Amino acid sequence: MSALLEVRGLTKRFGGLTAVHDLDFEVREGEILGVIGPNGAGKSTTFNLIAGTYAATAGDVRFAGEPILGLAPHRIAARGVMRTFQHNRPFAGMPVIDNVLVGAHTRFGATLWSVVLGRSRAEEARRRERAAELVQFVGLGELARADVTTLSFGQGRLLEIARALAGEPRLILFDEPAAGLTAAECARLAEIIRGIAARSIAVLLIEHDMHFLLPLAHRVVVLNFGAKIADGLPAEVRTHPAVMDAYLGSHAAH
Ligand SMILES: Nc1ncnc2c1ncn2[C@@H]1O[C@H](COP(=O)(O)OP(=O)(O)OP(=O)(O)O)[C@@H](O)[C@H]1O
Ligand SMILES: [Mg+2]
Repeated sequence: MSALLEVRGLTKRFGGLTAVHDLDFEVREGEILGVIGPNGAGKSTTFNLIAGTYAATAGDVRFAGEPILGLAPHRIAARGVMRTFQHNRPFAGMPVIDNVLVGAHTRFGATLWSVVLGRSRAEEARRRERAAELVQFVGLGELARADVTTLSFGQGRLLEIARALAGEPRLILFDEPAAGLTAAECARLAEIIRGIAARSIAVLLIEHDMHFLLPLAHRVVVLNFGAKIADGLPAEVRTHPAVMDAYLGSHAAH
């Protein structure tokens, strides 16, 4: 497997605070790479840097061999990097399926443009068909026409995932997708994430909950105070002394 995403020397300072410090890691094609670390470790900031939401202080990020650091978020999405947020962000007043279609437009441009350019009905029909397939894939098939405001929290999370997939990513970034879900929903989510990787889409998965992440990830990067303190197979990371310190220490403090 070759590296799809390469992160080198990535650094982000907010005033005097170094949220991400000289970070190196890579994500391979079709891989589920887990990112764990205590609160404030710099996980979401790392995502925001990769997705272009935050400007980096230093470093280099390459996607499919091309530098992406400094590009606008929509340009990074257009390259095939899609994300979900730590909190759900549905478009209220729209049915589930249309919310998913918005994901396709995020990457491929607005419907109006496709029409103006003569690109068309056929293309729109293809997207709609694909959106319907994705709604099924995440288990919301029966709710495709329902207004998003009627969805439960867990269903809203699944919608976010379908929407990100509608952009046909090669890499998808998940920020704590299991947060707030019931045990049954977590199990379902794990299956969906495995299904995404099985479609040869690489997954970069931030997760606070090691019980959720470790059985799912192919490899794990551990952050603490913005720096990488471990990187390896889930079984190696689980027993790594620095990880146990950072993790158990932080949990004990809560
Ligand atoms: N926009 C911002 N401005 C200033 N400081 C920020 C900003 N975003 C994050 N930080 C700080 O950067 C550090 C890393 O935050 P980040 O959100 O990346 O952590 P995290 O690992 O995602 O934590 P959590 O597990 O709580 O989601 C924290 O100290 C946070 O307060
Ligand atoms: Mg976070």
